[in-house]
Amino acid sequence: MIKPSHSALDTAAIAAALAAAKATAALGLLLLVLLVKPSQAQTPAPSARPAAPTPPSAAQLFREADLTLGQKLIAENRCVACHQQKVGGDGSSIYRPLGRINNPGALRGMVEQCNTELNLGLFPEEVSSVAAVLNRDHYRFP
Ligand code: HEC
Repeated sequence: MIKPSHSALDTAAIAAALAAAKATAALGLLLLVLLVKPSQAQTPAPSARPAAPTPPSAAQLFREADLTLGQKLIAENRCVACHQQKVGGDGSSIYRPLGRINNPGALRGMVEQCNTELNLGLFPEEVSSVAAVLNRDHYRFP
């Protein structure tokens, strides 16, 4: 007896297998898109600042700040003397609350940057304390 190479049943089975393979491929693609998309969204352009939807308030950011220590560090590190040389007067006009420093996080970041560039060796709590004093006396961010 000659057996047909493909019975109707075989054809149906092959069609089902093909459909299943396609569905799997589509699912795989979907998963890939889902996996890849968020990671792309999280990678900012090199120059982009990290998005800060709600910047912390000064009250939050400087909660642990030691204002007495901050004042002492500002005096010790001659921050004012150098600023005075740059802008004259009492040096305070170097602080521009409406400039690029427009929130407490940016203020703290600037103090951190000075700390690094001038090699002051301040600890994170000290940077916060210095920034807290500048905020109290000059920037006045809430
Ligand atoms: C050697 C000089 C020098 C010293 C020391 C110095 N600064 Fe500055 N600082 C500058 C100059 C110059 C600028 C302005 C930079 C600019 O406009 O790009 C500046 C800007 C700043 C600003 C940003 C002002 C603004 O609103 O844009 C902050 C905050 C600041 N300094 C904090 C400090 C603190 C705190 C210290 C001490 C721990 C310090 N600086 C020590 C030279 C100095």
